[in-house]
Amino acid sequence: MAEPRWDPARLEARFEQVRAHTESLAEPLSPEDQTVQSMPDVSPTKWHRAHVTWFFETFLLSEVEPDFAPFQDQYWFLFNSYYEAVGPRYTRADRGFITRPGAHDVGLYRQNVDARVRELITQVDGGTLDKLGSTIELGFHHEQQHQELLLMDIKHVLSVNPLRPVYAGTPSPRSEPDTMGWVDVEGGLVEVGHEGAGFSFDNELPRHRAWLEPYRVADRLVTNGEWMEFMADGGYQRHELWLSDGWAKVKAEQWRSPFYWRDDDGTWSEHTLHGTHPVDPGLPVTHVSHYEADAYATWRGMRLPTEPEWEHAVEADGQAHATTDAPALHARSAGPATGHLRQVQGDCWQWTSSAYLPYPGFSAPHGAIGEYNGKFMSGQMVLRGGSALTPPGHARHTYRNFFPASARWPMTGVRLADGGAPA
Ligand SMILES: [Fe+2]
Repeated sequence: MAEPRWDPARLEARFEQVRAHTESLAEPLSPEDQTVQSMPDVSPTKWHRAHVTWFFETFLLSEVEPDFAPFQDQYWFLFNSYYEAVGPRYTRADRGFITRPGAHDVGLYRQNVDARVRELITQVDGGTLDKLGSTIELGFHHEQQHQELLLMDIKHVLSVNPLRPVYAGTPSPRSEPDTMGWVDVEGGLVEVGHEGAGFSFDNELPRHRAWLEPYRVADRLVTNGEWMEFMADGGYQRHELWLSDGWAKVKAEQWRSPFYWRDDDGTWSEHTLHGTHPVDPGLPVTHVSHYEADAYATWRGMRLPTEPEWEHAVEADGQAHATTDAPALHARSAGPATGHLRQVQGDCWQWTSSAYLPYPGFSAPHGAIGEYNGKFMSGQMVLRGGSALTPPGHARHTYRNFFPASARWPMTGVRLADGGAPA
């Protein structure tokens, strides 16, 4: 008889760990902090806590509980994010108006669904668990994605508060910038995309062949100090460096520095989750749009890596997998050169020059869950790596994050490339 694929004890332990981590991220925040929506892209903390709960309730409990009923009928409407097949939902840009349920009531919702999922995992027969296991696992990874969004979003919420609040922790000691090195990659006919039995999102599949001309990628991310040189050389004033859409943004929104930098009487300071501090020239530049990353690369006479170039460079490097993804709240310095790629994961998501498109042979799953990734494959750019806000263990070198080219509130950074095919 075949071994059951899902072990209830391990699934339950993972469930408890993921759910507890979300609550630990919300713990430093007051109910007032958890209610604010500081711009349309940002969701309130308590909305994230409720929505990931709704995900388990909708895609798991409603499918298997014989007498299923939502914890609250209205929550079905309030906490659906974008699933058209599930039904109508509340306006995304107005999530900050949801003063009720409060943060405490969202906690009660979480407790109720936790108990029901726990019972389901531990009490259903092996055959049923085999059918549900992949949905439960998707729920874990979905909640981890929202753990990063929760931190990204509260960072913005706190940034618009004139008291410059601290979320948690203190900045790392000032770091010594080093020289950017390069890793040469032979290219040729390579394979990209996820393989193996471990979890991946549907958009990482199927693994497929790609042709790469020889190229090289920088062994670390661009630093704040290097970005200051770009600014000093008129980087934000020189139209010839910018893509047309990017230059329109520079002018319309008066960009003159990375998103969270501010000029404090001639000294640049940066808002972080540790509070507002002078910009550290040795740390990676963070919170720049694809347009800014591209303009910077153009200024340097280089380019951004394509998506397959980034993935293959990491895979070919081998040692790059060992890059730490220990928890942090801000990008860290690269540390000493190793001859391998540094800062692959755990510091900044890295813009590529690739549009977010389906891989050859991609097909979205049937039903509402098929809306998870596939319908967003239009008008966005791919980022690779993982950031200091990504939960440890969540990202992979085949992971495809994506945002519009103008997005600046995610924890994004820049890795340069050159010497290969035109981007
Ligand atoms: Fe979601």
